[in-house]
Amino acid sequence: DEGLQESVNRPRLLIIANRLPVTLSRSADSGTWTAKASSGGLVSGVSGINSQSAKSDQGSVKYDMVWIGWPGLAVEDDADKRAIDTLLSTPAASSSSSSSSSGINTMAAVYLDEDTSAKYYAGYSNSVLWPLLHYDASSALQLSSTHPEWWTAYVKANEAFAEAVMREYRDGDIVWVHDYHLLLLPSMLREKFRQDARMKREMMIGFFLHTAWPSSEIFRMLPHRRELLNGVVAADLVSFHTYDYARHFVSAAQRIIGVPLVHQDSQEVHSRDQSLVPCGSGMVLLEPHRTSPTTIGIHPIGIDTWKWVSEVKTEPVQQRIAQLASFLGLRSSGGGRNRMMILGVDRLDPIKGIPHRLAAFESLLTKHKHMRDSVILVQIAVPSRSDVEEYQILERKVAETVGRINGHFGSLGSALPQLANQPATTTASGYPGPVLYLHQSVDPVTLQALYALADVCLITSLRDGQNLVALEYIACQPQPAATPTTKPLTKSACLAAPDCQPETAPLKQPVPGVLVISEFAGSALSLAGAIRINPWDMQSVVGALECALSMSDSDRWARQSTLFEYISRHTAARWGQAFVADLFRAYERSRLASQI
Ligand code: G6P
Repeated sequence: DEGLQESVNRPRLLIIANRLPVTLSRSADSGTWTAKASSGGLVSGVSGINSQSAKSDQGSVKYDMVWIGWPGLAVEDDADKRAIDTLLSTPAASSSSSSSSSGINTMAAVYLDEDTSAKYYAGYSNSVLWPLLHYDASSALQLSSTHPEWWTAYVKANEAFAEAVMREYRDGDIVWVHDYHLLLLPSMLREKFRQDARMKREMMIGFFLHTAWPSSEIFRMLPHRRELLNGVVAADLVSFHTYDYARHFVSAAQRIIGVPLVHQDSQEVHSRDQSLVPCGSGMVLLEPHRTSPTTIGIHPIGIDTWKWVSEVKTEPVQQRIAQLASFLGLRSSGGGRNRMMILGVDRLDPIKGIPHRLAAFESLLTKHKHMRDSVILVQIAVPSRSDVEEYQILERKVAETVGRINGHFGSLGSALPQLANQPATTTASGYPGPVLYLHQSVDPVTLQALYALADVCLITSLRDGQNLVALEYIACQPQPAATPTTKPLTKSACLAAPDCQPETAPLKQPVPGVLVISEFAGSALSLAGAIRINPWDMQSVVGALECALSMSDSDRWARQSTLFEYISRHTAARWGQAFVADLFRAYERSRLASQI
């Protein structure tokens, strides 16, 4: 059978990430385990590696993909482990549980006991590393010294991952390690690999960091800085979303573990296929043993753009758009704009700057009384890491602030238009409070409808590795193909409120919304059509909102054209393919160097 033969000969790509791309659950009645697909940036990027729509240097190579990760819950019983292993190792189970086109052939679980997983995940990963990588050092450092057992658990968990990878690994496999949970894994794998006499070819290891990497002056404060850096530089390719993260990482490696930087002609590490984004950073480090260089890459992740674009046009999403527009009182009966909507979508995480966003909105309403009825902020805050104290404190703070804003600025206006002097066209069912806060996840149809309806998407991250909400918002807004005017984006267009050309006529046809994004989110660097803000400067955020809410249609179209053009080219599939292509080149360089 040719198909089978082809599959047997395919190279294998092992994806190693803290989480599996599925959520496992056990039926209380039958005790049977089932796997439900999760979505997310990494799943889209990895799924796109085998897609034929984007070209790569590897030609039409397809990979068998094996995903190795923690199931997200403690499984102690051996019979349960066997049942899960069987479920995850069945290709049919992985493809039916995730989208059928995911390309992930099988999965393998890394089991951690409850105590280890709590100290590794909520402890070291999310109470120490996560805040520190996002420049919030003081509580991270204090916690790391009062909880030395968290570090021990982090090492133990990385060891458990290394053992799981070695169980799965076959000579010639490609190993791709993801994110801050597994910074020690590349060096642990090298070590184990070198002790394994069965292996002929040196292991190919890539590492991608999905978060920010801070200035070396922040990173050097961490007690285990050396172990962590030595852990990562053992990979052939270490890659980041932005040039700045890569630069900070290189400084840390040079200054803290004394790894020399070998400057290379940047072209050499750029993709040879010019239709791909140049991804190499032009920086190469020498590993501590001075035998094997570590190539530093830059691969900003994208989204599955065309999937978002097509899904927003489907009937269920269009119906939800109509329902929500009516509920929120966004459109008048004549189809014109009645009330404008600002949207925030985040995990409820301290790095997202949600209190800063609320403060700016409160200031906007204080300054412009008429906006209290004519502008609404919809804030979706998906519950996240609720076993970490910082997240619990944030949850209380956000709930309190939302309560205060709605208490001050809410009105019965839309329920009783005559009291608030509302125009007769006001939708009676319009939501009365200025902030609609949902501390829950929303289904994909509702999320797409909210993205489509929002006049402004406001992202106020204090630091954020990349931020995909920005890209999803652009994908759900009207596309430039339908552009009524094609005015090029001028430099003066809306950089500050006074340059704005206010809109006068009521809206009849959808025009694109405006993306307002923190300059501290990685994706802001690539999104030239957005209004960029410093979330710490509240007045500048207020100014950006005034500008966005009053922007002319032609400026909105000019901005959306620039933004849409970017997301249509820099997709998740291209990210995955470019990383793998650059990993091959980095590996070749490492092998050449070790033969000298
Ligand atoms: C960030 C991290 C991911 C993580 C995700 C959700 O994007 O870079 O590694 O999976 O947040 O967080 P959680 O803790 O729920 O996995």
